[in-house]
Amino acid sequence: MIKNIKGTKDLLPNSTYDLQDIENHLIRFLHIHGYGEIRTPIFETTELFSRSVGENTDIVNKEMYTWEDQNGQSLTLRPEMTASVVRAYVQKQIWKIEPISKFYYIGPLFRRERPQKGRLRQFHQFGIEAIGSQNPEQDAEVISIAYNIYKMFGVEDLSIKVNSLGSNNIREKFAKDLKNSILKFKSVLSESELYRLEKNPLRILDTKNNEIKKIIRDNAPNISDYISTEDKNHFKSVLEILDDMGIPYTHDDFLVRGLDYYNKTVFEVISNKLGGQDALCGGGRYDKLISQLGGSDIPAMGFAAGVERLMIAMNLEHNQTTNTDIYIVNTESSLISQAMIIADDIRKNLGVAVYVDTLRRSLKSQLRHANKMNSKFSIILDSNTSNENTVSIKSMEENTQEEIDINNIISYFESK
Ligand code: HAM
Repeated sequence: MIKNIKGTKDLLPNSTYDLQDIENHLIRFLHIHGYGEIRTPIFETTELFSRSVGENTDIVNKEMYTWEDQNGQSLTLRPEMTASVVRAYVQKQIWKIEPISKFYYIGPLFRRERPQKGRLRQFHQFGIEAIGSQNPEQDAEVISIAYNIYKMFGVEDLSIKVNSLGSNNIREKFAKDLKNSILKFKSVLSESELYRLEKNPLRILDTKNNEIKKIIRDNAPNISDYISTEDKNHFKSVLEILDDMGIPYTHDDFLVRGLDYYNKTVFEVISNKLGGQDALCGGGRYDKLISQLGGSDIPAMGFAAGVERLMIAMNLEHNQTTNTDIYIVNTESSLISQAMIIADDIRKNLGVAVYVDTLRRSLKSQLRHANKMNSKFSIILDSNTSNENTVSIKSMEENTQEEIDINNIISYFESK
């Protein structure tokens, strides 16, 4: 038997209904906040991600699905969306058309991580990118949108962690001091942690190892001591706006995020409903990425959220079945075409869902199926239909039944 690939999922109607519902709410929510949808290709050149997400990040180092195309070009299934959005923005020189662009996206991403609850190899994100404003209100808007989306979906136990990474020019000095402070405890570090410390020292700050966490707390330098006054003021303004909007947050000095393009404000929304993989979403500013990928010097801020993690946090039970409004029960093989024609007629005239049995089952099992599909009415075609041109309409909710002329079906439902 051929099976799906580890870390991927087949979604059947019992969960796609929930998903469509989530997507519809998201689309509406983001639309009323002034964001429009952007769709970019699922695969891009590998260089796009190595240059934006960063050579020494886990994503680029070991998680990308990369292959060489027939013409020798290296291609990659997108592991995140920000790089693709910025690539499209730069390619189309959108800053020449509008001073600020606000995009949202929903789609699949690919990372070769170790699968576990809330961590897949093909997962889905929704996210937003606001490109053009350097002001703190843009940071606050993005953070509040992320938070309010989870509120809209009724997710509880939410918290927001925020931090400022300052500008890129302090990164090198901070990374060096951080590395030296932790290297004093070399003996407790595993080989992969040592490697990480060497290649991308900031990543040590979000270690899950409690012993190292304590070493960091007691010994690591604090990034806020390195940040310029201007960047501190920017961060202060972001927090003030969040306070005024009643958005709760905690300032976490150790939040750094796993992608290289960030500067200034970074944030994550966390829910303790998620266990180990507790980040519902994450984002921040990336003021240098647009110029780094060949565009003008244009600031930007965004976030992305895991759809599967949202669904876990919402406790969705996946027990919805395909529903219908009207179920056509047919017990005579000579009436098959008539059943199909009636169904189409109702759909066309009334725009409601009509289901026709195609298994030629007994009256009893068709009615049982109609109940299971939460059908409000059943139209029963039987010998009376062929003899008298009538059908029985059964109200499934009231358990009543009446006989009507076959030509009056539409007007019968119109009066309901
Ligand atoms: P990220 O933190 O790598 O950021 O991913 C954002 C969210 O995607 C995570 O918080 C998580 O909910 C979900 N996610 C990531 N990996 C997986 C996985 N393997 N399985 C399931 N869910 C996952 C970014 O991707 C940035 N592009 C966010 C951003 C947008 N920053 C600025 N703009």
